[in-house]
Amino acid sequence: MTTLALVSAKGSPGTTMAALALAVQWPRPVAVVDVDPAGGDVLYRVRDEAGGPLDPDRGLLSIGAALRRGAGETTLADHLQETAFGFPVLCGVPSPEQLAGIGGAWVHLPQVLTDHPGDVLVDAGRITTSSPVMGLVSQADVVCAVVRPDLEGSAHLRTLLRSLQAPLRVGQAGAPQLCVLAVTAYKDTAAVPDLQRLLDHEGLPARVVGALARDDKGARLLSSARVGSVARSVLARSAIEPVERLAATPTRQPGPTGLAGRS
Ligand SMILES: Nc1ncnc2c1ncn2[C@@H]1O[C@H](COP(=O)(O)OP(=O)(O)OP(=O)(O)O)[C@@H](O)[C@H]1O
Ligand SMILES: [Mg+2]
Repeated sequence: MTTLALVSAKGSPGTTMAALALAVQWPRPVAVVDVDPAGGDVLYRVRDEAGGPLDPDRGLLSIGAALRRGAGETTLADHLQETAFGFPVLCGVPSPEQLAGIGGAWVHLPQVLTDHPGDVLVDAGRITTSSPVMGLVSQADVVCAVVRPDLEGSAHLRTLLRSLQAPLRVGQAGAPQLCVLAVTAYKDTAAVPDLQRLLDHEGLPARVVGALARDDKGARLLSSARVGSVARSVLARSAIEPVERLAATPTRQPGPTGLAGRS
């Protein structure tokens, strides 16, 4: 099914929050997968179905251990936890030091995500070309950079998108679609066209799919288990338009080398 990787450049523009807000509105069964190498936040931000904390031992570390025992021995579903928001999550590593525990399992993760019967929203966090999650990101159907569209955010976005051209094989058959999601004031209707103009002017082939509202109340609700009110929040409602665009992106087709291919 569709794998969408959310990435960021410098700063904390709201990538984890975006993954959760998109999942609230996603039109098909979806799981949020936290692979942020800097340490996962989903574990701390999201509650289980009963409103209690998630199990820190079940997630990226447990799937890493299972994959090291043998690819094909496990599925994503074995390591997901149901949440109060109605979609399951794969918790990330509690701290970056524990990333070493994933080891050689990284190479098997893209296939595990592809084999999952639902769509997958991957929180890959702040990314550089040397990031351990780059292999996973490069095999996603859609790579979406989350950005605050101010002067700094736009500058770092340009640098990030330039750096992603080669590892994502942008422009080649089988490459992921490159998208951008702005996080800005609800009334900032200029952000999306302005960002798109900037990227077009720079010759960066990325589509700005919309804007998520900056909404403190909605962000607080998405960090709690108060499900009923989340979907009505300004933040969650602002996710409807970008979700329509992102969820409609076709699953990519195999490239000529087969390296980028999806089964
Ligand atoms: N749309 C939003 N409206 C209001 N506050 C937000 C929004 N998105 C994120 N925040 C707040 O900004 C902070 C950073 O958000 P978040 O953790 O989602 O960013 P991030 O890009 O994932 O950061 P990191 O790179 O550290 O993982 C959090 O305190 C969060 O509550
Ligand atoms: Mg994050």
